[in-house]
Amino acid sequence: MVEGSQNIDALLTEDRRFPPPPAFQEQANVNDPGVYEEAAKDPEGFWARFAEELHWFKKWDKVLEWDPPYAKWFQGGKINVSYNCLDRHVATARKNKAALIWEGEPGDRQVYTYWDLYREVCKFANALKGLGLKKGDRVTIYLPMVPELPIAMLACARLGAPHSVVFGGFSSESLRDRINDSEAKILITADGGFRRGRVVPLKENADEAVKGAPTTEKVIVVRRTGTADDQMNPDTDVWWHDLMEGQSQVCPAEPLDSEDILYLLYTSGTTGKPKGIVHTTAGYLLGTYATTKWIFDLKEDDVYWCTADIGWVTGHSYIVYGPLSNGATSIMYEGTPDYPDRDRFWSIVEKYGVTVFYTAPTAIRTFMRWGTEYPAKHDLGSLRLLGSVGEPINPEAWMWYWEHVGRSNCPVVDTWWQTETGMILISPLPGLTTLKPGSATRPFPGIDAEVVDEGGNAVDLGQGGYLVLKKPWPAMLRNIYGDPERFVQQYWSRYPGIYFTADGCKRDDEGYFWLLGRVDDVINVSAHRISTMEVESALVDHTAVAEAASIGRTDDVKGQAVVAFVTLKEEVPASEELMVELKQHVAGKIGSIARPDDIYFTAELPKTRSGKIMRRLLRDVAEGRALGDTTTLADPAVVEALKERYDEDEA
Ligand code: WT7
Repeated sequence: MVEGSQNIDALLTEDRRFPPPPAFQEQANVNDPGVYEEAAKDPEGFWARFAEELHWFKKWDKVLEWDPPYAKWFQGGKINVSYNCLDRHVATARKNKAALIWEGEPGDRQVYTYWDLYREVCKFANALKGLGLKKGDRVTIYLPMVPELPIAMLACARLGAPHSVVFGGFSSESLRDRINDSEAKILITADGGFRRGRVVPLKENADEAVKGAPTTEKVIVVRRTGTADDQMNPDTDVWWHDLMEGQSQVCPAEPLDSEDILYLLYTSGTTGKPKGIVHTTAGYLLGTYATTKWIFDLKEDDVYWCTADIGWVTGHSYIVYGPLSNGATSIMYEGTPDYPDRDRFWSIVEKYGVTVFYTAPTAIRTFMRWGTEYPAKHDLGSLRLLGSVGEPINPEAWMWYWEHVGRSNCPVVDTWWQTETGMILISPLPGLTTLKPGSATRPFPGIDAEVVDEGGNAVDLGQGGYLVLKKPWPAMLRNIYGDPERFVQQYWSRYPGIYFTADGCKRDDEGYFWLLGRVDDVINVSAHRISTMEVESALVDHTAVAEAASIGRTDDVKGQAVVAFVTLKEEVPASEELMVELKQHVAGKIGSIARPDDIYFTAELPKTRSGKIMRRLLRDVAEGRALGDTTTLADPAVVEALKERYDEDEA
């Protein structure tokens, strides 16, 4: 049986159906069911036709070169992502259309038209050039959700300098490791960012990180909170606003090769060391452009809001590159949904007339818990389409979203994808697909997804297995930065030539895909990825800890919560204070998202005879489930003791 499939029976009985509302269907960007068959017959032709909608300095010679696991898309083509997101629109009537509407947590606001954004990006690209940045040099960006973040990304893209955005919630140590792995020359940060009314001290973290990151030549600092005016290092640090002064507003976009690197984005895998996922230029742009256009059904007058942080792939693809390449108006919000009150999101929807809204199930479950009065306080009548991403959406959350946010007439697109896939791969097309609450429905046209058993055979409809991708797709990762062996081993070795997603999945009798969660040692906390190994290395780094194991415990709001089992060194007594200290230690090493909800002290950890920690068993213990077969344990009594202890704690 595939792990993570405990919900399978509940899913089998879901029989609610939501066909596209006729009025929606009629106006949809795609409403011809023939697109699936057409794309399946000739995927390369399908992608090539879509690619014609982009701007090319020079057209490609070959659509796809597939030498598994290495794909090259649109070889021979010359293209620039920044040009496609800006110059192309500035040359049309869109020039004065709002590209970004930004709202800060304290309530401040800035609107950038396409022309404004173009000018800011050109100026910043010139500033980077002035600092000696060359095509191919890496730039680390550690910023809160401020307009300078997409501006910096687009400036890097303009020059062909790969960016590596590090989520502002990560610790200095996580930042340092990422700078070092990519050997970035420039770090862009801010003094701080606003979060739930408080200041996140980014500059402090950045300073700490840079101490151990010798490749960093310059640190560019955005002044956001006014909290680091006395922390500027005259040798390395320069204010963003000083740097921008007097820069030319013209900076021609570099014609790049289709396969030049656009960015690196670090994500957690099954080992302690995050991997730098490599995305390249033309295919990534095409994938995000096409999926945004068809799945979010964007029209000229839409107001689109994806609530993710740009520090994650969702923000890269569906706040920045997808919407801007489509010439859309994209909303960007700096803070949390409960500041100053729990209706902040709905007040933003109402204020800007948001039409397409994209968020994560964990947020929806939080809103459910807060109660319907918060969305009910606002006029959400502008909304016409809703999206979900990051983790499986349970049917209850789906229905709540449909009723209380979508007023029972907005299609809900549940979109499955990964940092590695770059673009949404499994999702409804809102003008075509009959929705089932909790199912991401079917692969996007041109995508060849399958659910297979251990031996790689497609499972029968009605069965579960592992989700795999059998054909390359334009926005797929090209490599793990600096670690091609891990790239092959991680994704392409279980079924040679076939991409292994590490997700469990079930097909229903109509062939719909129902995602069931990760089957590897990745924990999905509030739609963010953390590896059990990362948490464990952080714990054993503490002087009191001898050994540690961590797991994801099913959580009603977060999807999964981090729970750790810790064996202390002989002379160290367990205590409440130590538990608090260990939780803080993990948060300090990785970032607050990795902070364990619970830590259990135990004399021993359950292991197989070969010494492998039995995480599945720990999950059973943490979730209070009856213990199954424990005969492969070296000492079954360990788990019994753990379980008793756990039951006591719960009582
Ligand atoms: C993992 C990827 C890609 C956007 C954000 C997360 C899970 C993502 C869904 C969905 C069920 C989902 C998978 C996947 N996931 N979207 N709609 N239904 N599961 O990106 O951090 O790379 O995580 O998120 O387990 O493997 P990520």
